[in-house]
Amino acid sequence: MAHFKELVFSGVQPTGNLHLGNYLGAIVKFVDLQKSHDCIYCVVDLHAITVAQDPLQLTANIREVTAAFIACGIDPKAHIIFNQSQVPEHAELAWVFNCVARLGWLNRMTQFKEKAGKDRENASVGLYAYPALMAADILVYRATHVPVGEDQKQHLELSRDIAQKFNNDFAESIARNGFNDAFFPLPEPLIQGPATRVMSLRDGTKKMSKSDPSDYSRINLTDDADAIAQKVRKAKTDPEPLPSELEGLKARPEADNLVGIFAALNGTSKADILLEYGGAQFSTFKSALVDLSVAKLGPIGAEMKRLVADQAYIDAVLADGSERAGAKARQTMNAVKDILGFVRR
Ligand code: AMP
Ligand code: TRP
Repeated sequence: MAHFKELVFSGVQPTGNLHLGNYLGAIVKFVDLQKSHDCIYCVVDLHAITVAQDPLQLTANIREVTAAFIACGIDPKAHIIFNQSQVPEHAELAWVFNCVARLGWLNRMTQFKEKAGKDRENASVGLYAYPALMAADILVYRATHVPVGEDQKQHLELSRDIAQKFNNDFAESIARNGFNDAFFPLPEPLIQGPATRVMSLRDGTKKMSKSDPSDYSRINLTDDADAIAQKVRKAKTDPEPLPSELEGLKARPEADNLVGIFAALNGTSKADILLEYGGAQFSTFKSALVDLSVAKLGPIGAEMKRLVADQAYIDAVLADGSERAGAKARQTMNAVKDILGFVRR
């Protein structure tokens, strides 16, 4: 396998209610990776329209995710923050990948099955082809590492399958065009730590999600201290005190979830948290969790509010990021066109 320069890419959909799951499962990792890698972080508005969106709300949500990236500590000068629709090469490469990916591969995607539900005939073609666009997002930069939550694992595997099939199908042309071995890297998912799948505060067997009708199911990044405190205090638990060892969290999904959240916010492991809180009642543990959550999330929410109010700044960040991302994406797309045998200017 050819050697690729390490590059991080990830995306977040501008579909409202950014929550603790997005933060701990993804954005915290985005922030950390800046120290060791070049990073590109994308507000994936083309993915958002795979289900119905209100245009005015979508505009606001794109700016809000951008504000969240910056408020959480992503540096838009040292790295790249942009929105997907401003770099048309994403959609262009996605079309190529629609012709590489097999129906059988997409038919296995569990997220499509969940999102389409029973009324599959009425789901958009875009919702079905969504993973091919996601592969294009990553591979149009030939990115090597992709921090995501656990729910995106299957999509990342599909991205690798697409990269591999393209490399194989066009191996001769890839060599003829001067690329050794492989044109696309096989992107690696980065799914680590105690909160790769944050669960609903109302039901420890359901994922925390932007679309849950109950706002008590999630902590939003824009929640104030009172809202955070209320939601943590009302979070579903069981009657037992906390166990002292990891083993004791099995079959206790709500306890497991709250301990995972605590550990992730604290930058430690679940085992460490149990060393401290094993034997404690939930009332004690929840008080500490409220304090920790408010300390970590309070300043982010406040900074998001400040940034969202400065629309000119947010839009300038996206314009600058799109320009820098676009220059890289065009290079890849030109090479892809040569490899495919297209005639170009
Ligand atoms: P989305 O909101 O679907 O665009 O997700 C943005 C990022 O947050 C992706 O990397 C997801 O895997 C991650 N994510 C979403 N929900 C959760 C959750 N409940 N727990 C952990 N990560 C999540
Ligand atoms: N599908 C991802 C999600 O819903 C968002 C996404 C789109 C993404 N393109 C990406 C994540 C590329 C990582 C890399 O969470």
